[in-house]
Amino acid sequence: MKIQISKNALLSVVGTCFIIVSCKTVQPTSQTNSSQKPSENLGFYQFSNEDANASPFVAKKASVYGKNGMIAATHPAASQVGVDILKMGGNAIDAAVATQFALAVVHPAAGNIGGGGFLVYRDKKGKSYTLDYREKAPEKASRDMYLDENKNVKAGQPSWYGHTASGTPGSVDGLEQAHKRFGKLTWQQILQPAIDLAENGVKLTMREARGLNRTKVEFLKYNPTKKYFMKPDTTDWKEGELLIQKDLAKALRRIQEQGRKGFYEGETAQLLLAEMKRGGGIITQKDLDNYKATWREPIVENYKNMKIISMPPPSSGGIALAQLLKYVEPYPLQRWGWHTDSTTQVMIEAERRVFADRATWLGDPDFVKVPQKELLETNYLKKRWEDFQFDQATDSKKVKAGTIAGYESVETTHSSFVDKEGNAVSITTTLNNSYGSKVVVDGAGFLMNDEMDDFSIKPGVPNSYGLIGNEANAIVPNKRMLSSMTPTIVEENGKLKMVLGTPGGSTIITSVFQVFLNVAEHGMTMQQAVDALRFHHQWLPDRTTFEEGGFTEQTLKRMREKGYKIDSQKNTIGRMDCILVLPDGTYEGGADVRADDTAVGY
Ligand code: GLY
Repeated sequence: MKIQISKNALLSVVGTCFIIVSCKTVQPTSQTNSSQKPSENLGFYQFSNEDANASPFVAKKASVYGKNGMIAATHPAASQVGVDILKMGGNAIDAAVATQFALAVVHPAAGNIGGGGFLVYRDKKGKSYTLDYREKAPEKASRDMYLDENKNVKAGQPSWYGHTASGTPGSVDGLEQAHKRFGKLTWQQILQPAIDLAENGVKLTMREARGLNRTKVEFLKYNPTKKYFMKPDTTDWKEGELLIQKDLAKALRRIQEQGRKGFYEGETAQLLLAEMKRGGGIITQKDLDNYKATWREPIVENYKNMKIISMPPPSSGGIALAQLLKYVEPYPLQRWGWHTDSTTQVMIEAERRVFADRATWLGDPDFVKVPQKELLETNYLKKRWEDFQFDQATDSKKVKAGTIAGYESVETTHSSFVDKEGNAVSITTTLNNSYGSKVVVDGAGFLMNDEMDDFSIKPGVPNSYGLIGNEANAIVPNKRMLSSMTPTIVEENGKLKMVLGTPGGSTIITSVFQVFLNVAEHGMTMQQAVDALRFHHQWLPDRTTFEEGGFTEQTLKRMREKGYKIDSQKNTIGRMDCILVLPDGTYEGGADVRADDTAVGY
């Protein structure tokens, strides 16, 4: 049965596990339908009365609608910049680029000019593009640069903290290329809002204030001679206080005046190189001169009547998402219902196999052969699924010998954009860990990334954070490190349907997978799909974690009886910022309630 979606918010869910009324109450109800008999044999679970008060949502937030455009981003001021640009007559690319520069000011934990990212663009005619502006290993980087003479990872986490942790930044070149190719407004107009925010200050949200306070010791440690991101008296920031960034404003103005030259050459470049010299970093002028963002062929795969457009390697996101969807497509997820044991089981088993492939095969396609076509072939996936059984969890050890990049940091940021003509942009960008390497470029006021940690710093062996790597992702000069970022755009019957993405390291892939299915199979609004509780499995370690409250006790009992190690975690999973196009063409923004994320439409 099909779910009726109405903006007036009476969602009648027939033949699935819950009824949604007024976007507020979601109650699992038991359902009996004799046509569902076969799924019972597969372990189909029906919610019982004792679960009637369970809510699948982390919180309930009202959807935001717009007819002329929609932005969903991690900070209200950045989303506002995007909408202002649309109102000035800019298109989705203009809004996206302006918002990225604004995020570098208002969300220094992950917004950046000292990092990199991926952009997926689908124009109003349906043509798709992807831009890779991921950081690169500097030319002086080497395979074992983070290992000591005994081939152990050096103390002090040098791939994570300090000057040696940074890859050559890609954001400024990438954003300039995107704007040059598709933007409508002038570069000066695009940069101005970010300059104003840096110059005049942005009011700190509670979360931003806490983030800066929490990182104070590290800011002082890696920037002993300067006090960026700190109050002059180094007391704690409070919500509502103004963060003014004069040096960053000047650096942004140089980019405004000179484009990429204002970052990769001249004063900013000199400041960056002086900073590298001060802390023993390895980025040189040659690295800056040689950095070029790359347009790549998108990953495009079908799911039923939808087309999924996502990021190719060096992100693992597009291939992984396409594989996941191909594994679960044959199953009646809608009929089984949201977070029932059957639905969850096929999703976990798909994740197990996909993350094993990710570990073995994926890396920078400019350096390693990624068997993209083969990994997405139906026969290949069918073979990988042969050992799946509904009565028992598959043992990860038997899925594939090999190695995998484990939990990555969660501090990345995603934003989604649609303009009134239907041009859509999905961007995920990162410094890697929160506030990157913690090194601020003196005189220019921006943070450098610690993206080198996304390489396998010691292939085949877990690094100091529990990461396990592989040869395909080993460090080579000028190579890009593997990523999980999954900026994605979805079409339905040839028309724009969704814009999706999130931060969250390896949980990016599984979060995008779940939010897509929440809409496509479970009939949720975009805001509900984003609010719905999430789970994550990534092959190794062989366990599933979920946001508290995400499963009923009965489902957990059934899963555990089959051998699944499944436990709740206190931390939330992902921070999705997404857009859904409703049947009448209205845009619905779904911004994650788990943080400051905000959708603004008009
Ligand atoms: N730094 C996280 C990622 O690229 O996946």
